[in-house]
Amino acid sequence: MAIVREQFQQPNKPPQPSGKKQQGKKKKSRRNQSQTENDADLLQATANAEETGNQEEGIRPQRLADYIGQKELKGVLEIAIQAAKARNEAMDHLLLYGPPGLGKTTMSLILATEMEVDCKITAAPALERPRDIVGILVNLKPGDILFIDEIHRLSRMTEELLYPAMEDYRLDITIGKGQTARTRSIPLPKFTLVGATTKVGSLTSPLRDRFGLIQRLRFYEPDELSLIVQRTAELLQVPMNVDGAEEIARRSRGTPRIANRLLKRVRDYAQVKGLAPINQEIAAEAMEVFNVDPKGLDWTDRLVLSVMIEQFNGGPVGLEAVASATGEDAQTIEEVYEPYLLQIGYLHRTPRGRVATEAARKHLGL
Ligand SMILES: Nc1ncnc2c1ncn2[C@@H]1O[C@H](COP(=O)(O)OP(=O)(O)O)[C@@H](O)[C@H]1O
Ligand SMILES: [Mg+2]
Repeated sequence: MAIVREQFQQPNKPPQPSGKKQQGKKKKSRRNQSQTENDADLLQATANAEETGNQEEGIRPQRLADYIGQKELKGVLEIAIQAAKARNEAMDHLLLYGPPGLGKTTMSLILATEMEVDCKITAAPALERPRDIVGILVNLKPGDILFIDEIHRLSRMTEELLYPAMEDYRLDITIGKGQTARTRSIPLPKFTLVGATTKVGSLTSPLRDRFGLIQRLRFYEPDELSLIVQRTAELLQVPMNVDGAEEIARRSRGTPRIANRLLKRVRDYAQVKGLAPINQEIAAEAMEVFNVDPKGLDWTDRLVLSVMIEQFNGGPVGLEAVASATGEDAQTIEEVYEPYLLQIGYLHRTPRGRVATEAARKHLGL
């Protein structure tokens, strides 16, 4: 609620697609005054504190049939599930990769439901010591799913324990030290490892090779996101028209997590203003208050593009040059900002560097 109040005190100014840099500077100084981190983070695809709680679990789809979009992925997994069930075996190990917020964790939970097994959820940073993974593996039941998030961050020892576990359902542990050291092999139940990563390129090849299925998640189309928003609105009992859902979908950066988050902010706005049902106009008005532009670009996206256009004549320009001109970290630009800009065709990658497209110029009014 805090952000809602705060925003209401400001003049209700629609975002100007042109003159981004000025607007951006203003926003940055506001950010520095630490007025609110909230609206700066509104368009970040990683989960915030609010999105790890129980309410979030309530809106996560539970079955494959409720999982909207990702047709290719669903097709592949439907077959894998049916085949494994028919043979009464565990499913092949599965690696899911793609930007945050697209439904990797959700899909892993769905697989467990569909396979009628349990899903043990963990993340690579929690598996620092060998005994962490050993404890989990020996407690799995036949067919269970072990979900390891951020799997590109596994420690080497943990990763090496996983190789025989994945391949032969066997745990090789060394007992003792030096000359008296010996290896003991412990059989494991047949389980399914589901790994999730935003950086598939950072996986070692021995680990990658041990996944029978490697699947990429794609950004969602606006019509798919609109369905997701409509579904969530129904679950949260938010009165909303289809055109309201479509407006939120267009600004959600192809990402369900962002779509659901924007929906909640729009709901707050409509509630405080006493507006219902939420239609296109109300949704747009609310998101303008929250500085979400009509394409879902945030301040940094616009800064990156306008720097490329104004200082580098649209490119081609190297990533490092963009980074130093914007004051952003190169890796952050590459991993956080570029994927969506590439997706909507505002940016191209060429062998000679990045190019800002005509569509980006038009959007920014440059
Ligand atoms: N295909 C989908 N259909 C409906 N909702 C989805 C879908 N994918 C993701 N979501 C929603 O988006 C949120 C983020 O998904 P999550 O699986 O946690 O993303 P990831 O693990 O890839 O970061 C979930 O809470 C879920 O409600
Ligand atoms: Mg996740």
